[in-house]
Amino acid sequence: MNLLKNQWFLIGAGLCGILILVVLFLVLPNGEVTQPIAFNHKKHRDNNVPCIVCHRFYKEEKRAGIPPVNVCITCHEDVIYPTPEKIKIQNYFSQHKAIPWQQVYKVPGHVFFSHRLHVNRGNLACKSCHGEVGQLEQPVTKQLIPLKMKYCIDCHKTVETIDNPYECIRCHR
Ligand code: HEC
Ligand code: HEC
Ligand code: HEC
Ligand code: HEC
Ligand code: HEC
Repeated sequence: MNLLKNQWFLIGAGLCGILILVVLFLVLPNGEVTQPIAFNHKKHRDNNVPCIVCHRFYKEEKRAGIPPVNVCITCHEDVIYPTPEKIKIQNYFSQHKAIPWQQVYKVPGHVFFSHRLHVNRGNLACKSCHGEVGQLEQPVTKQLIPLKMKYCIDCHKTVETIDNPYECIRCHR
């Protein structure tokens, strides 16, 4: 009797363990995500669509911004050559639904990070932190360069205007 209970306990504990691993896999920033539309950065770049048309806020704000569907629809309203992926855009738009993009780059809440500061004031290119996103033919599903604390600090060591790159309070507020 006791043994039977034990077995159920072990099975239960095992299942909980698996569930926790699955949840962690989905939540951890380096776990791959799946994106709702097969978005192709390279195709847009080859057609001379600049980053800021879609990521509209990096000059003035902390965030860069992931484009809402009404930005996509400005160019993909009439489809002369419809493709399944373009039809998805129109369906989201006509159903007043947001495209459920999964954000890949995200720092924890205790970290202060600002695009304006780095792109505008620091004059850095996107690829110094995001790698060659503009060359991707598949959507972004994982961080090309893992944006860990060490990566931030290693670059700050090379910045003249930052005197103590290890000062915790600069980034943790
Ligand atoms: C400034 C105009 C513009 C905007 C805004 C725009 N696109 Fe495009 N898109 C293009 C052009 C140009 C092409 C290449 C020609 C074509 O396939 O229609 C293209 C192609 C595509 C394709 C077909 C790619 C392929 O592999 O065949 C998809 C899917 C797509 N865009 C999705 C999106 C999504 C999603 C958004 C919003 C996040 C978006 N586009 C915003 C101009 C734009
Ligand atoms: C100095 C490093 C750095 C540079 C340079 C940089 N980013 Fe980021 N980016 C980050 C970090 C860190 C995050 C996560 C921010 C967060 O969680 O608030 C991020 C998040 C993002 C996101 C998703 C979340 C958001 O902010 O809306 C997009 C899109 C993005 N960056 C685009 C860009 C583009 C486009 C450029 C160039 C104009 C750029 N980034 C330059 C570090 C950088
Ligand atoms: C036509 C719209 C469009 C253009 C132009 C565009 N992007 Fe994006 N970008 C997207 C969309 C949509 C996503 C979310 C889907 C994905 O991950 O591919 C995204 C995702 C990203 C991300 C990952 C954000 C995150 O954390 O999930 C980065 C970084 C990024 N773009 C950088 C760039 C850079 C750099 C350029 C210019 C070279 C650029 N993008 C041009 C639409 C665009
Ligand atoms: C490729 C180089 C580079 C990377 C990577 C980088 N930074 Fe920076 N950072 C800079 C530069 C350059 C400045 C200075 C901008 C200025 O004020 O001229 C700066 C400034 C800052 C400042 C303001 C400093 C102050 O005291 O005024 C903060 C906060 C900051 N970065 C946080 C981060 C975080 C968090 C990350 C990692 C997610 C990061 N940075 C990654 C280059 C980088
Ligand atoms: C240049 C920016 C920057 C500086 C300076 C910095 N950190 Fe961080 N820190 C980050 C970023 C970004 C993360 C989130 C990414 C990661 O976990 O590596 C982080 C994460 C952490 C974490 C959580 C790690 C985890 O595994 O969850 C701790 C703890 C931490 N930092 C402590 C410190 C201490 C202590 C200092 C001062 C000695 C410091 N940091 C200085 C940017 C910075």
